[in-house]
Amino acid sequence: MKFAQLDRKIKELKKQRGAVILAHNYQLPEVQDVADFRGDSLELSRIAAKTDAKVIVFCGVHFMAETASILCPDKKVIMPDAAAGCPMASMITADDLKKLKMQHPDAAAVGYVNTSAEVKAELDYCCTSTNAVRVVNALKDRKEIIFVPDKYLAEYVSKKTGRPLIAWKGYCPTHVKILPEDITREKKFHPDAKVMVHPECVASVVAMADAVVSTSQMAKYAKETNAQEFIVGTEVGLVYRLKKDNPTKEFYPASEAAVCPNMKRTTQEKILWALEELKEEVRVSDEVRQRAKKAIDRMLAIV
Ligand code: 13P
Ligand code: SF4
Repeated sequence: MKFAQLDRKIKELKKQRGAVILAHNYQLPEVQDVADFRGDSLELSRIAAKTDAKVIVFCGVHFMAETASILCPDKKVIMPDAAAGCPMASMITADDLKKLKMQHPDAAAVGYVNTSAEVKAELDYCCTSTNAVRVVNALKDRKEIIFVPDKYLAEYVSKKTGRPLIAWKGYCPTHVKILPEDITREKKFHPDAKVMVHPECVASVVAMADAVVSTSQMAKYAKETNAQEFIVGTEVGLVYRLKKDNPTKEFYPASEAAVCPNMKRTTQEKILWALEELKEEVRVSDEVRQRAKKAIDRMLAIV
């Protein structure tokens, strides 16, 4: 089916189903174009919680749809491709975290939103790349802090807050592909460009950045900063959104190798199929949901 035809069918069916389509900033252009909202991981869940739509078509990876389901259990959250997972989130299980907590019984357990609902249920505080520093800074009265699963985000937060963190050894296989020499090369080609980097990148790359920010903060920074050129140190999919939102500015991916294959699994055809079948539903059990929500609520209370 041609894109124009697919696009029309998706819009018709979306209306009939009372659905809203949410797309993460890394999604394919064809998916971003058909979405009602684009955003970073938490932003999308918060949009999901506020919408009147009965059905949420979540185009992203599994933990993001789960977070939406945790925040709005009365809505049907469906993923066009439920096999789209986040390898970093899969690097820690609830049992792993339970064991770590047993080794550090007095520690506060802080976890990145890139975790499964079962892991979130074991956390004291959830955090995102936008607010991780603020969350850790708010825990002044806690002697020890566990931070999972991303060791690079932990390293960044630890540097910013001056707090040693008990970090899990997880990482994002996409962001580690961005190397300091990539930034050096792009800087040579574009000396006036500002360097924006995601905190999931390795420390030597983070150290070269003008701004260390989440994907939606990159969109905000690019819009609000006077600079005309930007080197984008995150998954390449964000560049499409940045160019679309800022047609007079130039954006250069730090590395073409920084592709998240799971983020590319969703297509317009799969969105249409999901709307036709109202599948695959992502649902978190009430028991896990209530505990996971506490960690998210504590984060929201801080920020
Ligand atoms: P953001 O929350 O910044 O969109 O990041 C999500 C993610 O998976 C980064 O790799
Ligand atoms: Fe997970 Fe990395 Fe993909 Fe983000 S880019 S969804 S952290 S694997």
